Amino acid sequence: MIALILDLDGVICDTAHFHFLAWERLAAEYGYQLTQDDNEKLKGVSRADSLKFILKLANKTLTHSEFDADLVRKNEWYLELVKDMGPSDVLPGVPEFFAQVDDLKLPLALGSASKNATMVLTRVGLVEAFDAIVDAGHVKQGKPHPETFLTAADMIGFPPSQCLVFEDSAAGVQAAIAGGMRAIGIGKPEDLPGAIMHINNLGEFDFDFLDEL
Ligand code: BG6
Ligand code: MG
Repeated sequence: MIALILDLDGVICDTAHFHFLAWERLAAEYGYQLTQDDNEKLKGVSRADSLKFILKLANKTLTHSEFDADLVRKNEWYLELVKDMGPSDVLPGVPEFFAQVDDLKLPLALGSASKNATMVLTRVGLVEAFDAIVDAGHVKQGKPHPETFLTAADMIGFPPSQCLVFEDSAAGVQAAIAGGMRAIGIGKPEDLPGAIMHINNLGEFDFDFLDEL
């Protein structure tokens, strides 16, 4: 049997866009216009590493206390953007995907880089669907390090070779591969090298494919 490990932002809900909007606002304060290309590199990356990356792009330095304060401000803007989310705010095909997982009784874990993962999952009403939830609070090393997915695999009791990861970020696909897992890319092949298949959303996933793994 194959176990599934899902990323959250950009896979289950459109929160990848909200992260982008909040970072874009902060970058603008530094005099830098954040681009969609930059954003591809930020997907899946922890809050602090994302800020370091943006500061480099903006050629800006902050004191430790300014750095910490800007992390808090970015998160406050993000929380404002997600505050009205509810069960209908999932990406296309997500309800059908979860119904299939339930029908087939497939083990399911979350592997997210976000400290807000459980809160967002609760808002969209999917927290109970998971056998295990791993977020930024559970690991020392974020994606592209494999710790997030290896911890999730361990919690559901499956070896990496029997886990299939669904990811919208290059860092996440790299993390899955580094952990000895296969990954399905949610997005364009050029943005997600190394994934064994690319789809636009979870609704496009054909569960018959699991028989080939
Ligand atoms: C990842 C997102 O899931 O979580 C990143 O792809 C985000 O864009 C990261 O920066 C950290 O999220 P948070 O909620 O802990 O700031
Ligand atoms: Mg993501």
